[in-house]
Parts: sequence; C-alpha cells; structure tokens
Amino acid sequence: MYSKIIGTGSYLPEKILTNHDLERMVDTSDEWIRERTGIVQRHIAADGQMASDLALEASRRAIDAAGIQAQDIDLIILATTTPDMIFPSTACILQDKLGISGGGPAFDVQAVCSGFIYALATADMFVSSGKCRNALVVGTEVYSRILDWTDRTTCVLFGDGAGAVVLTQSNQPGILSSHLHASGSYNKVLAAPGNICGGKIQGSPFITMEGNTVFKFAVKVLEEAVSEAITANNLQASDIDWLIPHQANIRIIKSTAKKLGIPMEKVVTTVDQHGNTSAASVPLALDIAVRDGRIKSDQCVVLEGVGGGFTWGAVLLRW
Ligand code: ACO
Repeated sequence: MYSKIIGTGSYLPEKILTNHDLERMVDTSDEWIRERTGIVQRHIAADGQMASDLALEASRRAIDAAGIQAQDIDLIILATTTPDMIFPSTACILQDKLGISGGGPAFDVQAVCSGFIYALATADMFVSSGKCRNALVVGTEVYSRILDWTDRTTCVLFGDGAGAVVLTQSNQPGILSSHLHASGSYNKVLAAPGNICGGKIQGSPFITMEGNTVFKFAVKVLEEAVSEAITANNLQASDIDWLIPHQANIRIIKSTAKKLGIPMEKVVTTVDQHGNTSAASVPLALDIAVRDGRIKSDQCVVLEGVGGGFTWGAVLLRW
C-alpha cells in the first residue's frame, strides 16, 4: 500500500511587508535583499494570530480539496518552530479548532525548515503501513514573532504562512521514498537559543545565524538528498517533472538545481512573494503549483528541505 496526497491547501496572512517597508525599519535596501535572497515581500501575521490559526485555514482548504470531512482525519502531524505555546502541541490545538473529537494521534514535529519534510515522511509511515487512513500534514509558522526587527541580517529573510496536505491510503503509487538526515553538531549555527526558566526568558529568544555557513551547507546537503532520492528510485534527474525546494533564498535554490542538472523551469519558486516561511514553505509552494495547474497527474515530484539542527531531507512522489 502507498500513501498519496489527495488535497493541498495554504494560507498567507493579509498583511504584506515589502522590502521598501524594511528600508524604513533597518539599514537595508530593496536592491540588497533582492540580489542576495530573491525576496521582494513577505506576509506577517496579525497581532494575536497564532500558528494554529494559520494552520486552520490551510487545513480547511486541504480537506476541502481532498473531498473529505475533518472528522475523517485520523492523524495530524504539524511542523512548526513557532508553536502557540510550550504545550499542548499546536497539532492538538488545531485538532480542536477543526472540531475533530475522539480523533487519532496528533503531534508536532520540530525540525525547523525541514519540518514539513520530516512530518510528511513520518505520516507516510503511518498511512502506508495501514495504521492511519487519512493524515493531515501541516507546516505553519509565525516567524515574525522570533525575529529581532532591529537585526538586518535576519529580519529581512523570513515571513509567516501555512501549508497543508491530506495524505491517504492508495493502491496507486504516491510517496515513493523519503530520506531524512540530521547533523546536530551544527546546532549553534542557526538557532533561537533562548529558553524559559522560572518564568523568565534565558538567552536570546531571537533567531541567530551564521549566514554563509548555512548557505554552503544547504546547497551541499540538498543536492545530496535529492540525488539520494533519485538514485533510490532508479531514476535520472531528467525524470523529475517538478522540484519543490524549501524557499530560503533564490541563490540556494538556483545553485542546488544547477548541481542537480534540473532546469529552473522545473523548479517551483515562491521565495520572492513569501520570503522564508520555514516549515510552511514547501507545502505553500506545493499548493500554489497544484492549484495553478502546473503539477499534473502521474508527474514525478521531489520535495526537499534543510533547516536548523542541521536537519535536511527529500521526499520523492508520483502525483
Ligand atoms: N541589508 C544590507 N546589508 C546587509 C544586510 C541587509 N539586510 N544584511 C547583511 N548586510 C551586509 C553585511 O553586514 C555585510 O557588510 P560588510 O561587508 O560591510 O561586513 C554585507 O552585507 C555582506 O554580508 P554577508 O553576510 O557576507 O552577505 P551574503 O552574501 O552571505 O548574504 C545571506 C547574506 C543572504 C544571509 C546569505 O548568507 C544567505 O542567504 N544565507 C543563508 C541563510 C538562510 O537562508 N537562512 C535561513 C534559515 S536556514 C534555511 O532556511 C536553510
């Protein structure tokens, strides 16, 4: 038995923050941000709008597209770095907001920007093994809450948003393989290192990053993960119809595609409009390419991501 995606959905908060808006907040320029990252604008959640609220909208759209009812969902795996609270999990809060009572398991996955890849690979194991029938897999982020808006080296890079898919049992090929990796020795290179102790935040609650190290590592491991997926399925790079990369930076995306020999016409990019939405970026890009008709039945699609940890991975599927 396979697991297959039968519905996708996404949601972006209404408020848009452009590079020109950022020029008024920190010492930066539209030109610098576009050239170094490809980002033009990003969406920012409203005050009080939580990761679960964004996830709810994206999930409703995915469930509608799948043609099922929320009550049919018997597994929720939600990837986020910006949960509503320490506990309970944002997955449990989402389950409640969807009105699912007496449901199957619901839990969060924390793998930062690789979160959706990790969540999808995990859901595939539940669904393809027959343990669950309909999984809701979500990536949702309110990164605007953990950015230092006076630090130009990080605040220009990220945005808020959510994406979701419904994964169901199928006799037809869907997810063909997944490949997950981590290298914890890099845990300090990209982090939001703060923690709560005695009711107070200890250390910085904001994102800290060694940009150049992240850049080089990302290109290397993304090429390796996608190649691993292609080889595992006895395919060639030319067999890939669509590459859906984590949307961190257009230069990382282009470098990876070039190393893989995949032309940019086959790469879905949203980083210009969304910025880096971490765990939400891959399902957001996937939903956009499904809804505008680019991704068609029986096509071969590879999703890939890399993020803090470091964590990275790829999922290869037949649409
Ligand atoms: N506006 C203007 N100037 C800036 C800004 C800014 N927003 N940020 C940094 N600069 C300056 C620096 O201070 C530096 O100035 P200096 O030469 O006077 O010292 C100059 O620009 C060059 O800085 P670098 O860090 O060398 O610039 P680089 O070309 O490496 O680009 C960037 C920086 C965009 C962060 C790049 O390293 C990158 O994309 N790294 C990947 C990081 C990433 O994607 N992180 C997201 C999370 S991880 C993930 O999702 C995979």
